[in-house]
Amino acid sequence: MAQDFAEVADVYRTFSTKGLAAGYRDEVESFTALGVIGPVDGQSVLDLACGFGKYGLALAQRGATRVFGVDISPEMISQATAAAGDDPRITFAQYDVAEMPKLGTFDLAVAIYLLQYAKTVDELTTMCRNIAANLRPGGRLVALTVDSRFRHGEKNTEKYGFSVRPVTDPRDEDPLSFTMFSDPPVTVGCTYFERDTYDRVARLCGFRPLRWHSLLADPALEGGGEHYRALVDNCPFVLFSTELAPSS
Ligand SMILES: C[S@@+](CC[C@H](N)C(=O)[O-])C[C@H]1O[C@@H](n2cnc3c(N)ncnc32)[C@H](O)[C@@H]1O
Repeated sequence: MAQDFAEVADVYRTFSTKGLAAGYRDEVESFTALGVIGPVDGQSVLDLACGFGKYGLALAQRGATRVFGVDISPEMISQATAAAGDDPRITFAQYDVAEMPKLGTFDLAVAIYLLQYAKTVDELTTMCRNIAANLRPGGRLVALTVDSRFRHGEKNTEKYGFSVRPVTDPRDEDPLSFTMFSDPPVTVGCTYFERDTYDRVARLCGFRPLRWHSLLADPALEGGGEHYRALVDNCPFVLFSTELAPSS
């Protein structure tokens, strides 16, 4: 049965930082995401679905002047707050992005594994509107979500620490589930949306057309990142980036 992240905050952090998925998370996911995000010196950042603070803290380290992280899970917020220590630039607070008010006017919003938790296109639209309301005109959104181009059933993710329950011909709003090979294993439910649906919804909320970025392994790794070949050739996740159109 699918679980809520609130119940598994500790398990998720250990799995991500020391467990089977630590390699993927650093050498593929963060390598690609931080590359797409680019320099953040002097920028204010809204970290959506911040979890234990992985991205918010990394972006503070890279020179962001302000980081505000939100997550629906109070357990995740406690972990992120503890990890931030007394850095006055960083705040973490509990919000559901679907109900998030205006918290500020940010230069950049990052949403790493958030949007696939919307259950419907309407909820996805509400999340994107709330994100837009927190960005300055021209402000950027970088998101990592489930890729509708993933070819289900190839079983190519297992060696990297997780599996995807295969579905045939998924359509918008169909349920998906991922199992993390953590200790104990955890299955988390989420929702399938087409790339075109993300693009249509984002534009409706005032964003420019989405640019899609496939996940890549760091070529500086031993063997040129060949270890991750099977994953990057058919990855269940993808990044997109966009900006809030100045007129909205
Ligand atoms: C896979 S974790 C990713 C956490 C973090 N972004 C990272 O990369 O480590 C997904 C997170 O999304 C949060 N989440 C799920 N639905 C949410 C919502 N509607 N609003 C805010 N956070 C949400 C969960 O509590 C969980 O911490």
